[in-house]
Amino acid sequence: MQRTRHVFLMCPPEFFDVSYIINPWMHGNVRKIDNALAKKQWRSLYDVLCDLATVRLVLPQPGTPDMVFTANAGLLRGNTFLVSRFRYPERQAEEPYFADWFMDRGFDVTLMPRDMPFEGAGDALFDRGGNRLWMAYGHRSVLASKAKIEKCFDTEVVPLKLTDQRFYHLDTCFCALEGGNFIYYPPAFDAASQKTIEKRIPAAKRIAISEEDALAFACNAVNAGKTLVVNRASAAFVADLGAKGYDVVQTPLTEFMKAGGSAKCLTLRLDEPAPA
Ligand code: ARG
Repeated sequence: MQRTRHVFLMCPPEFFDVSYIINPWMHGNVRKIDNALAKKQWRSLYDVLCDLATVRLVLPQPGTPDMVFTANAGLLRGNTFLVSRFRYPERQAEEPYFADWFMDRGFDVTLMPRDMPFEGAGDALFDRGGNRLWMAYGHRSVLASKAKIEKCFDTEVVPLKLTDQRFYHLDTCFCALEGGNFIYYPPAFDAASQKTIEKRIPAAKRIAISEEDALAFACNAVNAGKTLVVNRASAAFVADLGAKGYDVVQTPLTEFMKAGGSAKCLTLRLDEPAPA
């Protein structure tokens, strides 16, 4: 059976840089990006994804060095797009560019209230199987945004609290895979959230990854069918995923790691199906 081809949104790294510090990965990296290498790495990810899916582009904008991380544009499902409200002023200039892109293409665009930080698909991930949204708070998004998200998407929202600064977005430490499996790094969550995950996801469907893999952003995976595209992963990770029928494609994204992001952060899935 032919599976549907996914669609992802990316933003070319024309103006990508580390020009401020809003997460621990950025420390020591201000103005340390090798631009030629960043462009080459971004292009390799783009090429890998074009083989697996359709990739659409948003025009990069000067003065928005983190706009490459389209996962943070907002949260999308079906035709509904909820625009992010960035916690830090450094990224707030991206909001209208993303809102315009979706508005111009006929999506139903909703804005978050001004005082309610919510960083889109960086902090909110739909279950591949069901009508459930995993949402993180603690660093960037606030728990108070939950009600707005529930209303906007008419979905159950499961809040998870992040506690480790290095894993400041949900997509840095948690990934819902097609086929109903999950990869995650448990110590990034508080004890109650770890329990929530254990209660909601059967043990056979959960893969807890090592700190080494977590720090290489192996959870920050772009999943299309049975393929996972990541920056880097250990042999153990590749074997664990292989045992569940997944292929792991590694494509180095070291320049983007200096800004605290990798494969999944550089994409936003545009074909998230609306519930029947
Ligand atoms: N420098 C960006 C920030 O701190 C990186 C964003 C990474 N995106 C993600 N979805 N994890 O906001």
